[in-house]
Amino acid sequence: MHDDSREHLNNLVGKPPSASQVEMTELVLPNDTNLLGNLLGGRLMHWIDIAGAMAASRHSGRIVATVALDSLDFRHPARMGELVILKAKLTWVGRTSMEVAVNVYAENIKSGRTILTNKAFITFVALDEEGKPVPVPPLLPETEEEWANFRQGELRRQERLKKKQAEENSSEEK
Ligand SMILES: CC(C)(COP(=O)(O)OP(=O)(O)OC[C@H]1O[C@@H](n2cnc3c(N)ncnc32)[C@H](O)[C@@H]1OP(=O)(O)O)[C@@H](O)C(=O)NCCC(=O)NCCS
Repeated sequence: MHDDSREHLNNLVGKPPSASQVEMTELVLPNDTNLLGNLLGGRLMHWIDIAGAMAASRHSGRIVATVALDSLDFRHPARMGELVILKAKLTWVGRTSMEVAVNVYAENIKSGRTILTNKAFITFVALDEEGKPVPVPPLLPETEEEWANFRQGELRRQERLKKKQAEENSSEEK
Protein backbone atom coordinates (compact mmCIF):
# COMPACT_ATOMS: atom_id res chain seq x y z
CA MET A 1 0.00 0.00 0.00
CA HIS A 2 2.99 2.37 0.26
CA ASP A 3 4.02 4.65 -2.63
CA ASP A 4 7.48 3.29 -3.47
CA SER A 5 8.06 5.35 -6.62
CA ARG A 6 11.79 5.99 -7.15
CA GLU A 7 11.18 9.62 -7.96
CA HIS A 8 10.03 10.41 -4.44
CA LEU A 9 12.68 8.18 -2.75
CA ASN A 10 15.43 10.02 -4.64
CA ASN A 11 14.26 13.27 -3.12
CA LEU A 12 14.37 12.04 0.48
CA VAL A 13 17.05 14.37 1.82
CA GLY A 14 17.23 14.35 5.63
CA LYS A 15 16.17 17.46 7.53
CA PRO A 16 16.83 18.67 11.11
CA PRO A 17 13.86 19.21 13.47
CA SER A 18 14.55 22.97 13.39
CA ALA A 19 13.74 23.10 9.65
CA SER A 20 10.07 22.28 10.19
CA GLN A 21 9.32 23.63 13.67
CA VAL A 22 6.22 25.75 14.00
CA GLU A 23 5.12 28.44 16.44
CA MET A 24 1.42 29.31 16.37
CA THR A 25 -0.26 31.95 18.56
CA GLU A 26 -3.97 32.13 19.37
CA LEU A 27 -5.98 34.62 21.49
CA VAL A 28 -8.44 32.94 23.89
CA LEU A 29 -11.81 34.52 23.01
CA PRO A 30 -15.12 34.08 24.92
CA ASN A 31 -16.29 31.45 22.42
CA ASP A 32 -13.21 29.34 23.25
CA THR A 33 -13.97 29.09 26.99
CA ASN A 34 -16.11 27.20 29.48
CA LEU A 35 -18.37 28.85 32.09
CA LEU A 36 -15.33 29.57 34.31
CA GLY A 37 -13.58 31.50 31.54
CA ASN A 38 -10.97 28.75 30.98
CA LEU A 39 -9.95 27.53 27.53
CA LEU A 40 -12.00 24.48 26.42
CA GLY A 41 -9.98 21.25 26.22
CA GLY A 42 -11.50 20.41 22.84
CA ARG A 43 -10.48 23.78 21.35
CA LEU A 44 -6.94 23.29 22.65
CA MET A 45 -6.76 19.78 21.14
CA HIS A 46 -7.83 21.25 17.79
CA TRP A 47 -5.05 23.87 17.92
CA ILE A 48 -2.50 21.21 18.97
CA ASP A 49 -3.55 19.06 16.02
CA ILE A 50 -3.21 22.00 13.59
CA ALA A 51 0.21 23.09 14.91
CA GLY A 52 1.50 19.49 14.81
CA ALA A 53 0.14 18.90 11.31
CA MET A 54 1.86 22.05 10.00
CA ALA A 55 5.25 20.84 11.32
CA ALA A 56 4.73 17.32 9.90
CA SER A 57 3.60 18.72 6.53
CA ARG A 58 6.63 21.01 6.42
CA HIS A 59 8.98 18.10 7.09
CA SER A 60 7.37 15.74 4.59
CA GLY A 61 6.10 18.18 1.96
CA ARG A 62 2.90 16.14 2.05
CA ILE A 63 -0.66 16.19 3.27
CA VAL A 64 -0.70 14.38 6.62
CA ALA A 65 -3.29 12.46 8.63
CA THR A 66 -3.34 12.20 12.42
CA VAL A 67 -3.09 8.56 13.56
CA ALA A 68 -2.41 8.91 17.29
CA LEU A 69 -2.59 11.59 19.97
CA ASP A 70 -1.21 10.73 23.39
CA SER A 71 0.29 12.21 26.55
CA LEU A 72 -1.97 15.26 26.56
CA ASP A 73 -1.64 16.59 30.12
CA PHE A 74 -3.69 19.57 31.28
CA ARG A 75 -1.34 21.18 33.83
CA HIS A 76 -2.73 24.73 34.11
CA PRO A 77 -5.78 26.41 32.58
CA ALA A 78 -5.36 29.13 29.95
CA ARG A 79 -7.75 32.01 30.72
CA MET A 80 -9.93 34.16 28.46
CA GLY A 81 -7.89 37.09 27.09
CA GLU A 82 -4.58 35.23 27.35
CA LEU A 83 -2.38 34.27 24.42
CA VAL A 84 -1.86 30.58 23.78
CA ILE A 85 1.47 29.82 22.14
CA LEU A 86 1.92 26.37 20.56
CA LYS A 87 5.44 25.19 19.70
CA ALA A 88 5.50 22.09 17.50
CA LYS A 89 8.69 20.20 16.65
CA LEU A 90 9.38 16.78 15.14
CA THR A 91 10.91 14.30 17.59
CA TRP A 92 10.99 11.04 15.61
CA VAL A 93 10.44 9.88 12.05
CA GLY A 94 9.82 6.36 10.76
CA ARG A 95 9.18 5.32 7.17
CA THR A 96 5.87 7.10 6.58
CA SER A 97 5.03 8.28 10.11
CA MET A 98 6.29 11.22 12.15
CA GLU A 99 6.00 12.04 15.86
CA VAL A 100 5.59 15.71 16.78
CA ALA A 101 5.89 17.18 20.29
CA VAL A 102 3.64 20.18 20.90
CA ASN A 103 4.37 22.36 23.94
CA VAL A 104 1.64 24.82 24.87
CA TYR A 105 2.22 28.04 26.81
CA ALA A 106 -0.25 30.61 28.18
CA GLU A 107 0.92 34.22 28.16
CA ASN A 108 -0.81 36.87 30.24
CA ILE A 109 -0.65 40.00 28.10
CA LYS A 110 -0.77 42.46 31.04
CA SER A 111 1.86 40.83 33.27
CA GLY A 112 3.91 39.26 30.47
CA ARG A 113 4.01 36.01 32.53
CA THR A 114 4.24 32.84 30.45
CA ILE A 115 3.63 29.33 31.80
CA LEU A 116 3.81 25.88 30.24
CA THR A 117 0.23 24.59 30.32
CA ASN A 118 0.33 21.42 28.22
CA LYS A 119 2.57 18.93 26.44
CA ALA A 120 1.35 16.53 23.77
CA PHE A 121 2.78 13.96 21.37
CA ILE A 122 0.99 13.38 18.08
CA THR A 123 1.77 10.92 15.31
CA PHE A 124 1.05 11.81 11.68
CA VAL A 125 1.29 9.76 8.50
CA ALA A 126 2.27 11.40 5.18
CA LEU A 127 -0.15 10.63 2.38
CA ASP A 128 0.09 10.69 -1.40
CA GLU A 129 -2.59 12.04 -3.74
CA GLU A 130 -4.59 8.83 -3.33
CA GLY A 131 -4.50 8.98 0.47
CA LYS A 132 -1.92 6.17 0.78
CA PRO A 133 1.06 6.30 3.20
CA VAL A 134 4.21 7.59 1.50
CA PRO A 135 7.89 7.68 2.65
CA VAL A 136 9.12 10.83 4.38
CA PRO A 137 12.62 12.36 4.63
CA PRO A 138 14.76 11.07 7.54
CA LEU A 139 15.04 13.27 10.63
CA LEU A 140 18.54 14.53 11.44
CA PRO A 141 18.68 15.50 15.14
CA GLU A 142 21.37 18.14 15.80
CA THR A 143 21.43 18.70 19.56
CA GLU A 144 21.76 16.26 22.48
CA GLU A 145 18.18 17.08 23.46
CA GLU A 146 16.94 16.28 19.95
CA TRP A 147 18.80 12.94 20.02
CA ALA A 148 17.25 12.12 23.43
CA ASN A 149 13.80 13.02 22.05
CA PHE A 150 14.45 10.77 19.05
CA ARG A 151 15.37 7.77 21.22
CA GLN A 152 12.37 8.33 23.50
CA GLY A 153 10.15 8.77 20.41
CA GLU A 154 11.14 5.30 19.20
CA LEU A 155 10.12 3.82 22.59
CA ARG A 156 6.81 5.71 22.56
CA ARG A 157 6.12 4.41 19.05
CA GLN A 158 6.68 0.80 20.18
CA GLU A 159 4.24 1.32 23.07
CA ARG A 160 1.64 2.85 20.72
CA LEU A 161 1.87 -0.02 18.26
CA LYS A 162 1.61 -2.58 21.12
CA LYS A 163 -1.53 -0.81 22.36
CA LYS A 164 -2.97 -0.70 18.83
CA GLN A 165 -2.29 -4.42 18.36
CA ALA A 166 -3.88 -5.26 21.73
CA GLU A 167 -7.00 -3.24 20.80
CA GLU A 168 -7.22 -4.94 17.42
CA ASN A 169 -6.88 -8.38 19.06
CA SER A 170 -9.57 -7.63 21.64
CA SER A 171 -12.00 -6.30 18.98
CA GLU A 172 -11.44 -9.49 16.94
CA GLU A 173 -12.38 -11.60 19.99
CA LYS A 174 -15.82 -9.89 20.39
C1 LIG B 1 -3.37 7.08 7.91
C2 LIG B 1 -3.81 5.75 7.30
C3 LIG B 1 -4.15 5.95 5.83
C4 LIG B 1 -2.62 4.78 7.43
O1 LIG B 1 -3.05 3.53 6.97
P1 LIG B 1 -2.47 2.19 7.62
O2 LIG B 1 -3.12 1.04 6.95
O3 LIG B 1 -2.52 2.28 9.12
O4 LIG B 1 -0.97 2.27 7.11
P2 LIG B 1 0.26 1.50 7.66
O5 LIG B 1 -0.12 0.29 8.46
O6 LIG B 1 1.18 1.35 6.49
O7 LIG B 1 0.89 2.53 8.72
C5 LIG B 1 1.49 3.73 8.27
C6 LIG B 1 2.42 4.23 9.36
O8 LIG B 1 1.64 4.65 10.48
C7 LIG B 1 2.09 4.01 11.65
N1 LIG B 1 0.93 3.87 12.53
C8 LIG B 1 -0.28 3.39 12.21
N2 LIG B 1 -1.08 3.45 13.30
C9 LIG B 1 -0.35 3.97 14.30
C10 LIG B 1 -0.61 4.28 15.67
N3 LIG B 1 -1.80 4.06 16.24
N4 LIG B 1 0.39 4.83 16.40
C11 LIG B 1 1.59 5.07 15.87
N5 LIG B 1 1.90 4.80 14.56
C12 LIG B 1 0.94 4.25 13.81
C13 LIG B 1 2.67 2.69 11.16
O9 LIG B 1 3.55 2.14 12.12
C14 LIG B 1 3.38 3.17 9.91
O10 LIG B 1 4.57 3.84 10.29
P3 LIG B 1 5.97 3.73 9.46
O11 LIG B 1 5.65 3.77 7.99
O12 LIG B 1 6.74 4.94 9.89
O13 LIG B 1 6.61 2.45 9.88
C15 LIG B 1 -5.04 5.14 8.06
O14 LIG B 1 -4.61 4.70 9.34
C16 LIG B 1 -6.15 6.14 8.23
O15 LIG B 1 -6.79 6.55 7.29
N6 LIG B 1 -6.40 6.52 9.50
C17 LIG B 1 -7.38 7.56 9.81
C18 LIG B 1 -6.70 8.92 9.80
C19 LIG B 1 -7.67 10.02 10.16
O16 LIG B 1 -8.81 10.03 9.73
N7 LIG B 1 -7.20 10.96 11.00
C20 LIG B 1 -8.00 12.04 11.47
C21 LIG B 1 -8.10 13.17 10.48
S1 LIG B 1 -6.57 13.73 9.81
